Amino acid sequence: MDIKLKCPVCGRELSDMGKTLQCSGGHSFDRARQGYVNLLPVQFKHSLDPGDTAEMLKARRRFLDGGSYETICKSVLSAMKQYAPKNPRVLDIGCGEGYYTAKLRADMPGDYIGIDISKEGARMACSRDKGILFLVATASRLPIADSQLDCVCAMFSLLLPEEYARVLKKGGCVVEVTVGSDHLRELKSIIYDEVFPQDKHPAECTELFDEALRQEYRYELVLDNPSLRDLLMMTPHFWRIRKDKREMLEATDSLRLTVNYWVRVLVRK
Ligand SMILES: C[S@@+](CC[C@H](N)C(=O)[O-])C[C@H]1O[C@@H](n2cnc3c(N)ncnc32)[C@H](O)[C@@H]1O
Repeated sequence: MDIKLKCPVCGRELSDMGKTLQCSGGHSFDRARQGYVNLLPVQFKHSLDPGDTAEMLKARRRFLDGGSYETICKSVLSAMKQYAPKNPRVLDIGCGEGYYTAKLRADMPGDYIGIDISKEGARMACSRDKGILFLVATASRLPIADSQLDCVCAMFSLLLPEEYARVLKKGGCVVEVTVGSDHLRELKSIIYDEVFPQDKHPAECTELFDEALRQEYRYELVLDNPSLRDLLMMTPHFWRIRKDKREMLEATDSLRLTVNYWVRVLVRK
């Protein structure tokens, strides 16, 4: 792994000592049995167990392994192939259980790091690909030295322009996937009495980046009952849905859904 990491406590460079990552300031972080390293000091946690829960991550894994979002992964790859160099150094922000991180590396080999604030996410992600370094860390204080990366991917995740610009090389890119206004609209219209369009276009960040691509995608999906339950569980809708509506969805045999998303590429100035 050629990407220089920095200590989340004091900012000094971290050296890989095999079973631990250590800095010259005396801070040391053990590699877990599964291979991930926890670089999220307790003082940066907003809760005991931040991020997606084990239940959500398991549902996400089942759903994604069913191939329903493979098209999304292909759109990200196509953007990466256009804007990132061969053998790129890539960071996947909010990597979850590692579906996209592993698929991207399989198609576009390079040095990959996946970061998630959820320890369970990093733990599960390790089983996808042992060649990827998965870290428990927060996107708002990346444990990565300046100007290290060719590409930062943020799939349905956070966009923090200043922090991503810091870790990218000049000419490196952010590939970002955000939901479009029609995304899963059929599901939302069952869950909510009123559905408001939710085109999550992030703030312009022209001082740091040039926008190289902004493309909308749309396709249809027919989900069977188990996949529908998993989709519900892996999204925040699960926590908001009323009991009667959940029961209704749990009894639905199949549902036709719109998948609608945007891929945006920002190139570091
Ligand atoms: C909607 S999920 C997307 C997961 C994955 N990119 C995918 O599409 O399958 C968002 C992920 O971001 C993680 N997350 C939330 N806040 C975070 C933060 N501040 N830093 C890093 N990860 C975070 C969550 O734990 C969750 O796994």
